[in-house]
Amino acid sequence: MAANLFLLRNSLFQLQTHSLTKNFKPFTSSTPLSKSLSSTIIKATTKMDTNETPEIEDSNVNERKKIFVAGATGNTGKRIVEQLLAKGFSVKAGVRDVEKAKSSFSENPSLQIVKADVTEGSAKLAEAIGDDSEAVICATGFRPSLDLFSPWKVDNFGTVNLVDACRKINVNRFILISSILVNGAAMGQIFNPAYIFLNVFGLTLIAKLQAENYIRKSGINYTIIRPGGLKNDPPSGNIVMEPEDTLYTGSISRDQVAEVAVEALVHPESSYKVVEIVSRAEALTRSFEDLFGSIKQR
Ligand SMILES: NC(=O)c1ccc[n+]([C@@H]2O[C@H](COP(=O)([O-])OP(=O)(O)OC[C@H]3O[C@@H](n4cnc5c(N)ncnc54)[C@H](OP(=O)(O)O)[C@@H]3O)[C@@H](O)[C@H]2O)c1
Repeated sequence: MAANLFLLRNSLFQLQTHSLTKNFKPFTSSTPLSKSLSSTIIKATTKMDTNETPEIEDSNVNERKKIFVAGATGNTGKRIVEQLLAKGFSVKAGVRDVEKAKSSFSENPSLQIVKADVTEGSAKLAEAIGDDSEAVICATGFRPSLDLFSPWKVDNFGTVNLVDACRKINVNRFILISSILVNGAAMGQIFNPAYIFLNVFGLTLIAKLQAENYIRKSGINYTIIRPGGLKNDPPSGNIVMEPEDTLYTGSISRDQVAEVAVEALVHPESSYKVVEIVSRAEALTRSFEDLFGSIKQR
């Protein structure tokens, strides 16, 4: 039953894609080659003016920056872990069940699996993240259950716990996988079927918006990624990236969502930004510098 509800959720996101692409002039986008591995990782500590250059630290892939991924066993989380490893990062995979998670990943000396239930409070999470992680990527999402409060516990309080954990141990880079339509009410999308559906079952989008607002006020250098409906299929179009509260329909491959999360780490243009992403077959190829750079900080 719960699984069926999720399938319905995904199709609701995609329901209006056809009419949207018919009526809207497509924005351009891309899935470019990744930035070279000897690239940069953001160390900015304060929100910058648009013209200000962020403080960045040169990093070589050999230094193996360690990234903590919360929700690493999820459909998107697993892809984020795999892409990070493929790009030369070390990964600390935060999971609820370490033994179960071991069978999800191939052995890799750069991968460490640690227990991290986001509902268990910031102190335990701070321990799990440790003083060796440079950044946190949060790809958690409540698992369907009979507990109507679980979206609130995981997608709001759980993410807030992660942010508090980062503050405790001075981790100053946070990337969140959120969702389009989280601010649907303000966008005039209150009657959008996806907005209604996701909020009827546990106020999911409102929970995510609360967590987003907490991150934005935290002072941490954030990138909030709001994808459209998620698909397990490989990418079938290029990435379209838009500012917050712009997209209200469309879908995207989880591979591309993972790519955007990983690329955000190495592109200072993504700092302190909320980006909405879907993919469209007719969209043009654009670099990640261009995609992130085209979104304004607010
Ligand atoms: N489905 C869509 O169409 C859609 C659209 C837009 C945005 N999103 C959002 O995108 C994100 C990723 O979605 P997805 O479908 O790839 O995720 P998913 O496969 O449902 O995975 C969710 C992950 O969250 C973990 N998790 C759940 N409760 C947790 C807790 N208390 N502590 C720690 N981890 C916990 C799960 O761990 P276990 O493996 O232990 O259960 C799993 O790793 C979610 O935030 C989702 O809401 C989804």
